[in-house]
Amino acid sequence: MSRRRVLFLCLVAVVLLRPLIGYSHAPRQEAPAAATVPSRITFSETIAPIVYANCVTCHRPGEAAPFALISYEDVAKRATLIARVTESRYMPPWHAEHGYGEFLNERRLTDAQIATIGAWVKQGMPRGDDAKMPKLPEFPPDGWRLGQPDLILEMPVAFEVPASGPDVFRNFVIPTGLTEDKWVRGVEFRPSARKVVHHAIFAQVPGGSRANVYGADGRPGFGGLSAVGIADRTDSPGLGGWAPGTQPTMFSEGLVSRLPKGSDFLLQVHFHPSGKVEHEKSLIGIYFAEKGGQKDLLSLMLPAVFGFGAGIDIPPGEKKFTITDSFTLPGDAKVYGAFAHAHYLAKEMKADATLPDGSKKPLLWIRDWDFNWQDSYTYKQPFTLPRGTRLDVTLTYDNSSDNPRNPINPPRRAIFGEQSFDEMGAIGFEVEIVHKADVDAFQQALAVRGKEAIAAAGKNGTLGRLMARGARRSVQQLTIFDRQGNVVTRLGEVGSYSQAAFSPDGSRIVVVKNDPDTDGRDIWTYDIATGKSTAITSDAPQDSAPIWSPDGTQIAYVSDRENTHGIFRRAANGSGTEELIYTHTSGATIILTDWSADGRFICFWAGETMYVLPLSGERKPIELGRERGGRFSPDSRWLAFSSNQSGRFQIYVKNLEEATRASANGAAPPAVQVSNDAAVGGISWTRDGKELFFLSAQGGQSVMAVDVTSTSPFQAGTPKLLFKLPGGILAPAQLSTVSSPDGQRFVFALAVAPRRPAQ
Ligand code: HEC
Repeated sequence: MSRRRVLFLCLVAVVLLRPLIGYSHAPRQEAPAAATVPSRITFSETIAPIVYANCVTCHRPGEAAPFALISYEDVAKRATLIARVTESRYMPPWHAEHGYGEFLNERRLTDAQIATIGAWVKQGMPRGDDAKMPKLPEFPPDGWRLGQPDLILEMPVAFEVPASGPDVFRNFVIPTGLTEDKWVRGVEFRPSARKVVHHAIFAQVPGGSRANVYGADGRPGFGGLSAVGIADRTDSPGLGGWAPGTQPTMFSEGLVSRLPKGSDFLLQVHFHPSGKVEHEKSLIGIYFAEKGGQKDLLSLMLPAVFGFGAGIDIPPGEKKFTITDSFTLPGDAKVYGAFAHAHYLAKEMKADATLPDGSKKPLLWIRDWDFNWQDSYTYKQPFTLPRGTRLDVTLTYDNSSDNPRNPINPPRRAIFGEQSFDEMGAIGFEVEIVHKADVDAFQQALAVRGKEAIAAAGKNGTLGRLMARGARRSVQQLTIFDRQGNVVTRLGEVGSYSQAAFSPDGSRIVVVKNDPDTDGRDIWTYDIATGKSTAITSDAPQDSAPIWSPDGTQIAYVSDRENTHGIFRRAANGSGTEELIYTHTSGATIILTDWSADGRFICFWAGETMYVLPLSGERKPIELGRERGGRFSPDSRWLAFSSNQSGRFQIYVKNLEEATRASANGAAPPAVQVSNDAAVGGISWTRDGKELFFLSAQGGQSVMAVDVTSTSPFQAGTPKLLFKLPGGILAPAQLSTVSSPDGQRFVFALAVAPRRPAQ
């Protein structure tokens, strides 16, 4: 990968243009002047007004919060928890420190309101007179709240949000079809499955620029945290975003944002599974302005490029890793809003301005960063910072296991990158250059900052690590085919996988997942019906070659420890501990390919030699010959394998008992040749033992099927082509059960087109 291309990738990956708009909420009740608690507290007269003004925008049916807080029962049932989460200010969610910059639509209870809730709970939650209940705020009916949009965009197909599992970040691209540049004064977002939409970010990208990643995994859109990265334009503020409990508003102060002709609207949605499968098919309403922006607007980011040059490389266990940056304004700048971005390890983010006269102005302080609440903050009163003002930003990260948000446990080195376990971080400001004469100076200063960040990333190793990662990242996806070669389903994210195998009942897949960042290799299972994945191993040693026990309750695999290769086994649901079955001391890598249906043997090969390992007795492997990829027939009487004893690789079948006996006395038992051209491995039997599959290298890789009769003598028909694989399979001789027990489905970790940066 060229240096330029990597750079481009980084820029595209990380530059988020954040909205200049503030999230607006239903008008709230003004706080009582003094922090005194009323003497008589009832739900109807005291508590309900607080809850209705501050909680029900989210805590009502159909919204993102997990329960409604409307009736007395709703609130009383959870009163202790409510007292606790309001006391700690976990709710309502708002992460900017109060008083450190004054923001529009701050979600915050007063001290008096918090004390009142606490006192009410202590007093036994008196209900009061139902007749005195306040009116529930009116929530507008479903429809466009900003009026009929000038342009309505809709996701062409719905995206299925799984019932459970980790949060999903998904990017959707919708062509705008614009034939001329337009100026946007507001965007309204209408999710169809509000319950699972945690937040959304909007952007625009050149038309068709994300086509190469769109749908690569067979589902609408594409995954990833930071694809909203748009370096394409910086002359406009962003298009905004959406979070639960927000009311759509036009952009503040009449600002407008350019939407170029032919552009695509990019929607990044953070989904939080709700326990039920949901389908999201969002609607987006866009409101145009008459004419373009008269203002010179800029997104100022500290550190530049989301910390690309800031040397983000956080050792595991590090509790306080700090990066800082400063920028001195080359002209007067009017500040409208601020935003912050980082992944899960960030803890504290702080920004101040030091004016030329030495006075300080607090800008933003997030003490407990929460990736789930990426608000943007609009100042109540935009303010002008004079030329010569220095902006200072400090970000700290906690990569210890004490950080409850750490996505990796035990913690692992975190470096700059776009994966959820990577880090980045910056505070940004939406500013207007007050004097036209300063526009050049600002633009030059920003260009210099960008160049310096890139140079620093070259020096401190960030660029090198990203390039190395790009080179190592071979991209596959678990793909299941039918007998005609149609893709039935794709499982999991695009990533680096190998050695996929069906479970004996055909419901799950086991696979080796490679982590290009750490060179780690672990064993994972995927449930085909739900797509749910489970880590069977997550440890430092490299694990590989997983095979299923015949009853599907265990998985055996190879793990390298201090230069020896051991065969381990572990429960297939990931529970319990691993058990060492056997240690191979020759130093050669060993590859397991099967576990016999009668449970007695495991078949593996190492170097040039194939072995069967009896699981009873002293577990001394029986050496079979220069063969590999051995697979037992379902009745455990036959062994299919590949060998190049004829000069090119072919598939053979021999009698297992004869083979083990022959091993003792040195004779070669007869073997029946099954394939008739270059057969490279991937051998698999149907459960009834009547059909055998293998991969042929003829004209690309093809799945071949052959009818067999497992009676003595063993008989095989003529192999026929089932289908050609659309992409390459690595190391086919290392594959285990590629077919489902009924022979109707085939699984491969199939290479997909590498992700290319958008042009
Ligand atoms: C902007 C939307 C929003 C507002 C406003 C809001 N909540 Fe929540 N609340 C949520 C969401 C989403 C969750 C679920 C998980 C999370 O993010 O913690 C939640 C979770 C909770 C929980 C469960 C916490 C736990 O640990 O299980 C309680 C209790 C709660 N909210 C109470 C309140 C109260 C009381 C208010 C008003 C004073 C309020 N919330 C205002 C969105 C909101």
